[in-house]
Amino acid sequence: MHKVDVLLGLQWGDEGKGKIVDVLAPEYDVIARFQGGPNAGHSLEFNGIKHILHTIPSGIFHENKINIIGNGVVIDPSIFKKEIDSLQGLGVDATGNLFISKKAHLILPSHRILDAASEALKGNTKIGSTLKGIGPAYMDKTGRNGLRVGDIELPGFTEKYNSLKKKHGEILAQYDYTDDPGKYEEEWFKGIELLKTFRLVDSEYLINDLLTQGRKILAEGAQGTLLDIDFGSYPFVTSSNTICSGACNGLGIAPSRTGEVIGIFKAYCTRVGSGPFPTELTDETGDRLRNQGKEFGSTTGRPRRCGWLDLPALKYSVMINGVTQLMITKADVLTGLDTIRICTAYKHEGKLTETLPYDMTGKLLPEYREFRGWKEDISSIRNCDDLPDAFNQYISYIENETGVPVTMISLGPDRTAAVFPGRE
Ligand code: GDP
Ligand code: IMO
Ligand code: MG
Repeated sequence: MHKVDVLLGLQWGDEGKGKIVDVLAPEYDVIARFQGGPNAGHSLEFNGIKHILHTIPSGIFHENKINIIGNGVVIDPSIFKKEIDSLQGLGVDATGNLFISKKAHLILPSHRILDAASEALKGNTKIGSTLKGIGPAYMDKTGRNGLRVGDIELPGFTEKYNSLKKKHGEILAQYDYTDDPGKYEEEWFKGIELLKTFRLVDSEYLINDLLTQGRKILAEGAQGTLLDIDFGSYPFVTSSNTICSGACNGLGIAPSRTGEVIGIFKAYCTRVGSGPFPTELTDETGDRLRNQGKEFGSTTGRPRRCGWLDLPALKYSVMINGVTQLMITKADVLTGLDTIRICTAYKHEGKLTETLPYDMTGKLLPEYREFRGWKEDISSIRNCDDLPDAFNQYISYIENETGVPVTMISLGPDRTAAVFPGRE
């Protein structure tokens, strides 16, 4: 039976999923996004161009690939239009090979305002949302009030839009926050018109038909496992299932039709926004990681919090997703450090534990294992045999601890900067 491979982040997002999808795309016929929306920022770099995608799958730069935005995604038409315009600026015409699920939900301007109002009310306890309206749009989906892409082709769409906007206005009246959705509507409705020019489909049929035909499909996750609505560090999470099972719900594929589960993780950890981060470094090593790794948000430009690799959290993500292959990014950023640390356990309420406690906001003291660093510039290495011993020891330790092989090592942002252990 043909199966869908699922690629997803194992940390708090920004693991380098976009880059890896772009590297793997030649091996696939179809790339499909299954959840999240414009809170995602997936960077791709090739021929000296850096491009950031928010809603559009990261296979879009490869000719003759089918790209699908699945039913689990939430789409802001204004942002979608900006993405399409900037692709056109690079000479990429997405109209031919981008399919959009009619069941994907729409983010309205008033969803964005509700997001901002909710965060403002939370004050110090705010989530640190990207303020793209993600939470309110998914709330309307589960509350059965949402507008879907398929609605834009049906009569009465404007009435439905106005009715939901009115409802949002009534909710907003209870907040001490004012903004006028009207000022965003011109762009939003232009985005709606643009959406109509794309192939709006029942993507669950499309994807299952493609599978039956034997086409190779890669599902591209957004955010990361530790931001999952059920298994992340709630409430400091996003509003969708970012984990492997999210690909089933977000595309309409059966669990028995998921194949390889490719888990992407950084050689260290980052987090943008609020919430627990046991290995966070607030010292100069943290600053060094941020500067060397250019750790500033792809969507919001916010500085990312940085810290050491967290093995209990990584093992948790491997377990929840059933990861079959690991791919590590940004190991090049660690070059030059005398010693590198990995958190192997936490001290929680006086006891050592490897499990993530229910309340991660409590004090978790990481226990570290130290590794020898390397001084050689590894960013231009294209053959595994050339990797320094100290680096290989670091990777072997992670493989042994997680029980999963590392099948790609990314050594820089560019498409060409990677080696493939076991393949050469
Ligand atoms: P995503 O959201 O998971 O797709 O990740 P982002 O694109 O938001 O953030 C990853 C950042 O790291 C981007 O700026 C990438 O260009 C960059 N990047 C990806 N892989 C590597 C790598 O192996 N080394 C370095 N130095 N940068 C990388
Ligand atoms: P990619 O796909 C990193 C974070 C936000 C915030 C929390 C909730 O690029 O890895 P939301 O906007 O969903 O209400 O924000 O989740 N967040 C991300 N962090 N990468 C992302 O996506 C993220 N998407 C959301 O910073 O803490
Ligand atoms: Mg990102």
